[in-house]
Amino acid sequence: MPLKSRIEMAIAQSIARGQGQAAPPKLAAALDYAVAPGGARIRPTICLSVALACGDDMPELSNAAAAALELIHCASLVHDDLPCFDDADIRRGKPSVHRAYSEPLALLTGDSLIIMAFDTLARAGDAEARRALELVRILSNRSGMPNGICAGQGWESEEMVDLSAYHCAKTGALFIAATQMGAVAAGQEAEPWYELGARIGEAFQVADDLRDALYDEATLGKPAGQDDLHDRPNAVASLGVDGAIQRLKDILGGAIASIPSCPGEAALAQMVTSYAEKVTPVAPATSPVRQRA
Ligand code: IPE
Ligand code: IPE
Ligand code: MG
Ligand code: MG
Repeated sequence: MPLKSRIEMAIAQSIARGQGQAAPPKLAAALDYAVAPGGARIRPTICLSVALACGDDMPELSNAAAAALELIHCASLVHDDLPCFDDADIRRGKPSVHRAYSEPLALLTGDSLIIMAFDTLARAGDAEARRALELVRILSNRSGMPNGICAGQGWESEEMVDLSAYHCAKTGALFIAATQMGAVAAGQEAEPWYELGARIGEAFQVADDLRDALYDEATLGKPAGQDDLHDRPNAVASLGVDGAIQRLKDILGGAIASIPSCPGEAALAQMVTSYAEKVTPVAPATSPVRQRA
């Protein structure tokens, strides 16, 4: 089955469980709204690609890992868009969850998705409890404090920001979780997969900074020019557009070189290469960097 179908089916299964029995209808609908249609699904794609490269001997477990990762990611977006964070009106080309359903329901949607992510791992753990426990440990480490998304968002409330800790926790963390969870679901050690996840995460942050500076809201499906607007340190401000693109290429080259030896090494390198092609902005040299009004 293609990766995309595995990911969508696993997510839909988790969401359907949360909508069961006597669920309050609006919150049940908001769960679905927050995850579908999805974005790039890059984290679960990386997770399953690593699992396949390692033999993927328990596909039910790797599917659960992929779904859990995406549920946490979607929850982080719902919370990130709330007025108390970025106050964003659109996400993935449609009104953000609090705009479509209300702030209380958006808060509860994010909370529910986080809990469903761990429930998804717990339910898949019957056949291999040790692997499932390790998956829970990795995902909680990369979602919460002190190394995960919560920490990353927390840096935005500090006067003095450690930029690398901020980026690593806010965006890098789930990429590290993606490579490590793919390996662990397939029975491999997590540690050798740290570097690949960290490097892909770093590249993603640079690509995201480029897209934020170069693209408009309609293309992005979310507010553009946010780094400049909020005066956030970013790769385009420090390196310029061409410099940031070169940096992106360098990091992804390093990512490929860091792939641990495994049966599917070549296919995984191919996945990283096609990811690089997808995220590198088109015709950047001619696109003007947006200036603040
Ligand atoms: C957006 O992530 C949030 C950041 C971490 C910058 P993605 O660009 O992966 O969002 P979707 O899932 O494709 O919408
Ligand atoms: C969102 O970061 C990352 C999360 C952990 C939710 P940003 O606020 O920079 O990303 P966008 O632009 O809203 O996707
Ligand atoms: Mg934010
Ligand atoms: Mg935001």
